[in-house]
Amino acid sequence: MKKIAVLTSGGDAPGMNAAVRAVVRSAIYYGAEVYGVKQGFHGLIKGQIEQMDRSSVADIIHRGGTILQTARSEEFKTEAGRKRAMYAVEMFGLDGIVVIGGDGSFKGAQKLDELGVPTIGIPGTIDNDLRYTESTIGFDTAVNTVIDAISKIRDTSSSHGRANIIEVMGRHCGDIALYAGLAGGAETIIVPEMYFDINKVCGKLVQGKNRGKLHSIIILAEGVGDRFEMGKQIEKITGIETRVTILGHIQRGGSPTAYDRILASKLGARAVQLLLEGKKARAVGIKALNVIDVSLEKAINADSSFNDEMYDLADILSI
Ligand code: F6P
Repeated sequence: MKKIAVLTSGGDAPGMNAAVRAVVRSAIYYGAEVYGVKQGFHGLIKGQIEQMDRSSVADIIHRGGTILQTARSEEFKTEAGRKRAMYAVEMFGLDGIVVIGGDGSFKGAQKLDELGVPTIGIPGTIDNDLRYTESTIGFDTAVNTVIDAISKIRDTSSSHGRANIIEVMGRHCGDIALYAGLAGGAETIIVPEMYFDINKVCGKLVQGKNRGKLHSIIILAEGVGDRFEMGKQIEKITGIETRVTILGHIQRGGSPTAYDRILASKLGARAVQLLLEGKKARAVGIKALNVIDVSLEKAINADSSFNDEMYDLADILSI
């Protein structure tokens, strides 16, 4: 009988629990033993590993966060840390590990593979910054959370006739800003991937105001610059009172959308199948509704293209 472990690592994302559930249940279905590692690679180093059964993952498909907890382990980046992790892998006799997380977690999975432990990566991050897959688990939920916030902020923006900057997460990736900005009908979307001119942003706000537009929503991806400075600049150039909202970790929590639950279920089950087929160092993903798998190497190094067409569309529709 094969022994498979599962861990969640890096920033949590809604849908990680659904992925853990899919890994645990399908592993049991195929006759494998399954173990949960607490707190990602940190827990692997500490040997925080427990056997799971089908009821360990009952009642979690709809929950945000991760029942396995997560961490960003600095120790695992060291050779000594990885050696300690290998000790736990050998102690528990693990034949393979499913790693749910973002690019940093995939790099960890790659390191384990180099040490002889078969690993499969499942993309779990709200950032959507792994380009080999059309979507990462948690992204859709985060975008919906932002859309909800946009609607609420638009109400008060209209009442006061203000400009409102809404800063969203994404690290170096502007996808949350782009998708939520388009779906939320934002006037302006500012992302790290695209050059922007503050005078043009202001020109658009003033034009809108002159046409009788009451609200002005600017979606700003984190990492572009200081949001409060930007707010001051906008106020100075346009004379429009400006407020800033940082959505922060609200975007990381909440019940996952149906899309994220289904994606997590499909990817979790496929990850287990791959391990049982004897595959290693692969990452599962989704392309045109089909589950795919690529090498971890390819997943980590996929080119970081940005959807310019969608960005242009958002610009056209927000005139
Ligand atoms: O990678 C997910 C993410 O939420 C990023 O969007 C953000 O930059 C970062 O994690 C925040 O990390 P932490 O929760 O450790 O502050």
